[in-house]
Amino acid sequence: MGSRIVATGRALPRTSVTNHELERFMETSDEWIRSRTGIGCRYTLRSGEELAEIATEASRSALSRAGMTAADLDAIIVGTVSSEFAFPSFACQVQTRLGADSIPAYDVAAACSGFIYALSVADAHMRAGDFKKVLLVGADALSTFVDWSDRRTSVLFGDGAGAAVMVFEPGSRGVLASLLHSSGKHWDLLSLRATGVRATLDSEIRRDGTDAIKMKGPELFKIAVKSMEEVSRRVAERAGIKLEDVSLVVGHQANQRIISAVADRLGLPAEKVFMNIERYGNTSAGSVPIALDEALEQGRIHDNDLVMLNACGGGLTWGANLLRW
Ligand SMILES: CC(C)(COP(=O)(O)OP(=O)(O)OC[C@H]1O[C@@H](n2cnc3c(N)ncnc32)[C@H](O)[C@@H]1OP(=O)(O)O)[C@@H](O)C(=O)NCCC(=O)NCCS
Repeated sequence: MGSRIVATGRALPRTSVTNHELERFMETSDEWIRSRTGIGCRYTLRSGEELAEIATEASRSALSRAGMTAADLDAIIVGTVSSEFAFPSFACQVQTRLGADSIPAYDVAAACSGFIYALSVADAHMRAGDFKKVLLVGADALSTFVDWSDRRTSVLFGDGAGAAVMVFEPGSRGVLASLLHSSGKHWDLLSLRATGVRATLDSEIRRDGTDAIKMKGPELFKIAVKSMEEVSRRVAERAGIKLEDVSLVVGHQANQRIISAVADRLGLPAEKVFMNIERYGNTSAGSVPIALDEALEQGRIHDNDLVMLNACGGGLTWGANLLRW
């Protein structure tokens, strides 16, 4: 028996912002951003839009591809740090939009590792016999949390949501292993004081040094590479498979140089590493499911392929899942 992702979906805000557009109001360049990060543009949430609505659109797409409706679900688990409210949770906001009342719906706050954590939690519940069909969502809108005068941080983030439907079923396909880690002592490498997305969009808060994301980029870069390499090796060991047998790594899209450095250290060739950061930037918990959805659409994943998901983010948190597709 295994818990298997049977369908995925994604949805983005309406507005895409290119690096050239950033050049108009910020001391930066398309060349700098591309060469340091691989990012060419990103989607940003605007006033009048709701991230929960976007996440619901991604969820509807995944459910429809799975041939299911919200009534079939046993739980909704969302990786996010971008809830409109301190409470109710983001998951409850998605639940009511989907009309899936009374099933458990809750958030997992692990920043950019949110989807990896949510998937691991869902798998454990399914193995325990609690749920048979789970909707997983990764959604964030970190562009609403940046100080746009801080060029070191603001150019990196974009907004969006991805969703996946997981089903517990007989057979050898599905999640082979997951591994999660956190290191609270590094909390200040990437942090944000508590204020929600809605407050920014409604202009109650103009984010400056105090109320914006604070990041120690170069330090974070080194830890991200090391931790993602280690967790990827260990999750493969735990699953009893060799790294060279992995067909595709769909990792968190934080920085092209981080993704490539991790792949190099693992000895994986570029064709086994999925990358779409150029068009999205770092969408935090949205990044892995958005990338997964695109990888499937592009025919990069086939039945029974070994697929590795990995991420590192604020907390610090990091983790990996190994799936037989
Ligand atoms: C943020 C990051 C891209 C910065 O790259 P870097 O090579 O470390 O660059 P530095 O921060 O050392 O800055 C180098 C120079 O570029 C400048 N610079 C920074 N941002 C710039 C921008 N957007 N445009 C132009 N110049 C910029 C800096 O001011 C600095 O100039 P100085 O030496 O004259 O002060 C990189 O550290 C990184 O990706 N870190 C990980 C961040 C991350 O992924 N966070 C999310 C994890 S989930």
